[in-house]
Amino acid sequence: MYSNKLFSSYKLPGMTLKNRMVMAPMTQSRSDNPEKKATEFTAEYYQQRASAGLLITEGTNVSPISVGYINVPGIFSPQQVAGWKLVTEAVHAKDGIIFAQLWHVGRISHPDFHNGALPLAPSAINPNEKSFTENGFQPTVTPKEMTAEDIKQTIEDFKKAAANAIEAGFDGIEIHAANGYLFHQFFNTCSNQRTDDYGGSIENRARFLFDVLDALEGVIDFNKVGVRLNPSLHGAFGMQADEETIPVFEYIVKRLNDYNLSYLHLTEPFTPVADISFLVSEVAKHFRPLYKGILIINKGFDKASATAVLEAGDADLVAFGVPFLANPDLVERFKKEAPLNKPHLSTFYTPGAKGYTDYPTLEG
Ligand SMILES: Cc1cc2nc3c(=O)[nH]c(=O)nc-3n(C[C@H](O)[C@H](O)[C@H](O)COP(=O)(O)O)c2cc1C
Repeated sequence: MYSNKLFSSYKLPGMTLKNRMVMAPMTQSRSDNPEKKATEFTAEYYQQRASAGLLITEGTNVSPISVGYINVPGIFSPQQVAGWKLVTEAVHAKDGIIFAQLWHVGRISHPDFHNGALPLAPSAINPNEKSFTENGFQPTVTPKEMTAEDIKQTIEDFKKAAANAIEAGFDGIEIHAANGYLFHQFFNTCSNQRTDDYGGSIENRARFLFDVLDALEGVIDFNKVGVRLNPSLHGAFGMQADEETIPVFEYIVKRLNDYNLSYLHLTEPFTPVADISFLVSEVAKHFRPLYKGILIINKGFDKASATAVLEAGDADLVAFGVPFLANPDLVERFKKEAPLNKPHLSTFYTPGAKGYTDYPTLEG
């Protein structure tokens, strides 16, 4: 009935997606409970959107030190695993497929989250960003440079979080290596001035990601693991790109071919970069030839541009963020060419149902 590729089913290793529309990971800051866990309320939100081919959860914290935003759910305690079970069961009841996005913010945090201790990062360089804490917006601080022991512990935290995700019933995990957070801080020279095996050369700056991936062997099948990257991020989330940025991402993307992952999830630039000679302004086009596996592309797509990127063969799946946030039945709306709800920016991160579970469907 619908010849549009967006609505055709698609095979990921070991699972078949109903369509090629992915819900992008989006922090919603609704876990305003002492355990920082997902709840029935979280389950309702994801269940409402289960007609997406694939749902990727909001970033979920892999450890207490990985926290950088208020009311974000974690996936390190038994209570948090129990909370996520409610979500996976609700999504599976609607034949949905859901991956957990595993998150460590690194230096985009504040001592208020850590009983006064400094956030961890590859190097002691302040991103000069703001961190939203229980005490409102706070300027970020100079983080603590991770020791070899800190790195080892963080790898363990990701391993444990992946095992917890499987226990919670997730169909897979996505490693959040984008948007200026911990992995990205290792990749870019603006945030990584290390002189050990994790800094300096391209291979060294990429090492932390591959160490984490290697640690997942035996914990979760690689074909249930996705990786998210934002190669052309510049001037946001504390990131300043330079001539050494795209080469590190090219190295990473090529090397990911060895892992038989579920997918690679890329985002187009968050800000215009056409005037910056050393950055790539068409991310899908640039990286598609380098990656042999399944590629998801995201950022700013609507029905027409998503259809076009699939038809051009520059990506296999398209992730939609804000359109899914505001339209639980986005798939249906696209099929029917129905108008979309407007997103309410003021309620993106506020507690409660408003701007979360109360966006109407076509049926009301
Ligand atoms: C409210 C909100 C929260 C977000 N949280 C996350 C997150 O937790 N993890 C992540 O990788 N990206 C996050 N993003 C980025 C989105 O995944 C996506 O890249 C962005 O919204 C652009 O896609 P769009 O144009 O389809 O909305 C967030 C975006 C929004 C609007």
